[in-house]
Amino acid sequence: MEKIIINGSNPLYGSVEISGAKNAAVAVIPAAVMCSVGKCVIDNIPNIEDVNKLIRILNTLGARVTKVNNTLIIDSSSVKSHVANSDDVHNMRASYYLIGALLARFKKAVVDLPGGCSIGDRPIDQHIKGLEKLGANIKIEHGSVIAEADKLIGNNIFFDVVSVGATINVMFAACFAEGVTVLENVAKEPHVVDVANFLNLMGANIKGAGTDVIKITGVKKLKGCSYSIIPDQIEASTYMMAVAACKGDVLVKNIIPKHLESVSAKLIEMGVTIYEYDDSIRVKNNKRLREVNIKTAPYPGFPTDVQQIIGVLMSISKGTSVISESIFENRFKYFDELKKMGVNVKIEGRAAIINGVERLTGCKLKATDLRAGAAMIIAGLVAEGETEITSIEHIDRGYPDIESKLRKLGANIYRECEDIKEFKNII
Ligand code: EPZ
Repeated sequence: MEKIIINGSNPLYGSVEISGAKNAAVAVIPAAVMCSVGKCVIDNIPNIEDVNKLIRILNTLGARVTKVNNTLIIDSSSVKSHVANSDDVHNMRASYYLIGALLARFKKAVVDLPGGCSIGDRPIDQHIKGLEKLGANIKIEHGSVIAEADKLIGNNIFFDVVSVGATINVMFAACFAEGVTVLENVAKEPHVVDVANFLNLMGANIKGAGTDVIKITGVKKLKGCSYSIIPDQIEASTYMMAVAACKGDVLVKNIIPKHLESVSAKLIEMGVTIYEYDDSIRVKNNKRLREVNIKTAPYPGFPTDVQQIIGVLMSISKGTSVISESIFENRFKYFDELKKMGVNVKIEGRAAIINGVERLTGCKLKATDLRAGAAMIIAGLVAEGETEITSIEHIDRGYPDIESKLRKLGANIYRECEDIKEFKNII
């Protein structure tokens, strides 16, 4: 069993390269399954476990996938299966995109229900509503979503809830639906726009991604293309928060600053110095920060995926800060772990009231989900003494090379593999 060991309170200096966006990559890769002619060459793919799972899933479907550094070459012309039911499918969230992709291509799909971070109920009723509006028959049996359609016909769909997953999944199926589909009350996240751009490059006809209304005109088939994934605004936010918490001066490189506007604004409100450039942001801080309040919201609001991470920053800032988590109903579990370090927080429904303390002390922590794991790393970086984090497979799902990127900035952090430690004891 691997774990991450941190000895805290070093300031961070230097520069960090942000990788491709996890939530874009895990949508673009399933989209490539819809391509029946030619190959897709996708660059800036992050080196994370969710990508490795999708590569294995596409291989079981019959696609030929080659990985060269951060580039994937996907040939889906040989895909014959519409069934995705391996362990990888229910050990991640984004496998649900295969429902829309396989239904679009084969007019049928059998995909195990998704897994992913335990941060709330996470139903898929909006995915099902949208696909049924396009003419699909959907049932859930034996833990799988079973979808089929004689044909897919364009329709007008108004989502009851703003959902990244449902927006993208229904967009996939609409690409091959006859006529025009209009999606309203849609998600506008950068990764929604990224996957729409990728589909259009393959020959789809999608207009309005990133706005409140997406219009899709069905086409017959999609052809291979070359594409590069956008940078990961959540990974970038994580490193910005790390510098703010640990103090220091770091250039966060290879990003799109516009995607981070709500995060930069909150850091400035807390007293952090931010310089924005074309494709990088410099983050400086040398003092204890002010309290701040946040309310998570769909893009361009404050991202729920950064809520757990700013929660650590608030816990060592002055005064009392309040988090209102409006997206997921159970995304405060990480505080149960952080309280062991001295965090002073009171949870009241969807609100967390955090009274800042002067110092945290290192201890043994267990990552409960992807972003909680990242938050625990930052807590370990600022705490006095040693912090040990287990269940780090959650972190590896979404953060490429996180220890080496932080070590290059001056952090005292390394990964220990229990087996090797046992082996060391033997020899
Ligand atoms: C995506 O999850 C992301 N995951 C999440 O990132 C992110 O937190 C979330 O969007 C919100 O931005 C991927 O992209 C793989 P939603 P998703 O559908 O699609 C409710 C991370 O840390 N809802 O936008 O599952 C749902 O319960 C992960 O990278 C329904 O009610 O999120 C939630 O309250 C964690 N019915 C809200 O909508 C549905 O059919 C937003 O969920 C779908 C969603």
